[in-house]
Amino acid sequence: MAKPTLTVTDNRTGQSYELPIKDGTIRAIDLRQIKESPDDFGLMSYDPAFLNTASCRSKITFIDGERGILRYRGYPIEELSERSSFMEVAYLILNGELPTAAELAGFTHQVVHHTLVHENLKKLMDGFRYDSHPMAIFVSMVGALSTFYKSSANIFDVEKRRLQMIRLIAKVPTIAAWSYRHSVGNSYVYPRNDLSYAANFLHMFKHLPTMTYTVHPVLERALDVLFILHADHEQNASTSAMRGVGSSNVDPYSAMAGAAASLYGPLHGGANEAVLRMLTQIGTKENIGELIRRVKAGEGRLMGFGHRVYKSYDPRAKVIRDLAKQVFEVTGTNPLLDIALELERIALSDDYFVQRKLYPNVDFYSGLIYQAMGFPVDMFPVLFAIPRTVGWLAQWEEMILDSDTRIYRPRQIYEGPGLRHYVPVADRK
Ligand code: CMC
Repeated sequence: MAKPTLTVTDNRTGQSYELPIKDGTIRAIDLRQIKESPDDFGLMSYDPAFLNTASCRSKITFIDGERGILRYRGYPIEELSERSSFMEVAYLILNGELPTAAELAGFTHQVVHHTLVHENLKKLMDGFRYDSHPMAIFVSMVGALSTFYKSSANIFDVEKRRLQMIRLIAKVPTIAAWSYRHSVGNSYVYPRNDLSYAANFLHMFKHLPTMTYTVHPVLERALDVLFILHADHEQNASTSAMRGVGSSNVDPYSAMAGAAASLYGPLHGGANEAVLRMLTQIGTKENIGELIRRVKAGEGRLMGFGHRVYKSYDPRAKVIRDLAKQVFEVTGTNPLLDIALELERIALSDDYFVQRKLYPNVDFYSGLIYQAMGFPVDMFPVLFAIPRTVGWLAQWEEMILDSDTRIYRPRQIYEGPGLRHYVPVADRK
């Protein structure tokens, strides 16, 4: 039988080394023994964006980017988005198994009964500038939660840890809705225990003192499905931030503020906002050709296209494209849909995109649905953050309980000046 090892010959010294291969990987630390001379530090690998480095072991989410497969705890995203609910998927992601009816009822009850936030958080919210971006407010408010729950520092106490996790999942819709209401100067609406997770969020977002908002069941279900699709996506930038910040054993609120900040960026959770702005700017189908020309000339990117892991159609984008039709039957169609479909058609028949395997990702169509449902583009990353809270927390818990975990501390290749000596300011040229 073939040996599960890798033999490396260092041509500087002529010496060979045998490195174990486990789970299709070698351990980067095994390279350290490869030295040019005894006082040499040893070989490192250089991988600035983790292009080919597994940063952890995980049992939560499986992605096969070549074949467009996404599974949570083994269950295909297509089955979950068709047959499950966000509360059930949250339980699955956090606990590894689908809940029994009693477990689901217990979990839902806990989440429902932690949706209120401390009244002082309202005052904090009031302090933000009137036109603040709701995602910037969201990031700050999540971090601020740690000041209200001091016991959250006890991350290795399972009961206390799980309580913070429930609190976060329960409170993010409240914070999200209120961050928007602050940014438009509306009064804050309190959560309602009789509504589902998605319906409660819609209620807090839309209800006005002057008229009662009734949640449409199709829109409630659509939002629930969007929450399922965004619940986890293994080691993306924000999840890596969650793990990286959390590896110092800080409380989950502080770690999650870091994760949410990462999600805010236009290359990650801000992409659906960027897609909508791009489609609006295109304006008519006739202008698509010019945009494609500019993208190919390196003058910007086609937002909502391409993915570090998916080199085929993002399975979430497929579900969302179909979901859009159901939503538009209720809300009326979004005129930008025609532009999006035509843009997709043109891009997918263009060599530039085909050769680079650039397909629509989750953000390409989600913004169209959000907009049709009445969410302003500023809210898009916040809508992503609500369900991703579940994924961040599951990954964070898995990380702190993993015996392999140590504080994240990458190495660097130093390129700055060599030793030089301080010169007093008066003597500098
Ligand atoms: N439009 C045009 N060209 C692109 C695009 C794009 N959207 N994405 C990648 N490329 C090109 C890129 O210029 C490069 O070409 P070349 O080899 O000639 O230099 C090649 O494709 C490979 O790109 P890359 O930058 O090495 O790919 P990456 O894996 O580092 O980037 C990405 C992944 C998602 C950041 C990138 O595809 C992108 O910027 N997409 C637009 C933003 C976007 O839609 N983000 C949402 C990601 S999905 C939601 C989430 O998980 O957060």
